[in-house]
Amino acid sequence: MQYFSEEHSSEVVKQQYKDCKNLRLKKIMESAINHLHQFVKEVEPTQEEWMYMIEYLTKTGQKCDDKRQEFILLSDVLGISALVDTINNRKTLDATESTVLGPFHVQNAPKKEMGENINYDGKGEPAFIFGMVKDTAGNPISGAEIDVWQANEDGFYDIQQPDVQPEMNLRGVFTTIEDGKYWFRSVKPKFYSIPTDGPVGEMIYATGRHPNRPAHLHYIVSAPGYKPVVTHVFVKGSEYLDSDAVFGVKDSLISEYVLINDKQKANELDFKSPFYELEFNFVLEKN
Ligand code: BEZ
Ligand code: FE
Repeated sequence: MQYFSEEHSSEVVKQQYKDCKNLRLKKIMESAINHLHQFVKEVEPTQEEWMYMIEYLTKTGQKCDDKRQEFILLSDVLGISALVDTINNRKTLDATESTVLGPFHVQNAPKKEMGENINYDGKGEPAFIFGMVKDTAGNPISGAEIDVWQANEDGFYDIQQPDVQPEMNLRGVFTTIEDGKYWFRSVKPKFYSIPTDGPVGEMIYATGRHPNRPAHLHYIVSAPGYKPVVTHVFVKGSEYLDSDAVFGVKDSLISEYVLINDKQKANELDFKSPFYELEFNFVLEKN
């Protein structure tokens, strides 16, 4: 039997978990104790610093409600969400890579006809977005659902501005037919800031970081018999691609919005000329 000491702190604490029957829980607790004790030994916080940390986590919890999840945001800006996502979605073949979900997805976004315009507030630079959903052998997937959402010209999602933006602005669900193709109309995304009016923003500014995400479209692409992918398409050349506040960028997810100067095509799409085009193909792995 050993009493608590600085030298043997983690061993002594872990001893009390030795009878845990749930082996996964036991492993998680032992690892957490090892790393937390190591952290405290490395940092040697003062009592005041430790209280600050407790209060910080308390405020983080208090900021959460059914619309705001400050703990997920904290996990995002520490790169933990990106790491958990990457570990759980390792890709073996050429399937589309995943990235963080973020807090602005809504269940039951409206189903859309192919080609519909999801931009209801008329702001922003028009963009025609198209491509295919395929399997890893290159065959088109019919019946694939493409759930898409993005921020508006001012850098806010519809649910962040319920009194400003039309409901369900810049979101919708498209379903592919036999040829696996999809197309719709929207606007070119812009970079934007994650919410900074809480403890996460306080930490971002106290550490001299910036809160911005490079311009992107969000997608969840799914089809019966295939693994769904939660991902983004990032705008090639956007500010902050190399310093995303939540570490979501992957090389394979960056794509170019090409400026199209074609009045007739613009007319057909009910766009002003010039407009942008973005092609992106999604590749799904079988279950
Ligand atoms: C987003 O891209 O919507 C997002 C992701 C993580 C944190 C905040 C916003
Ligand atoms: Fe986003």
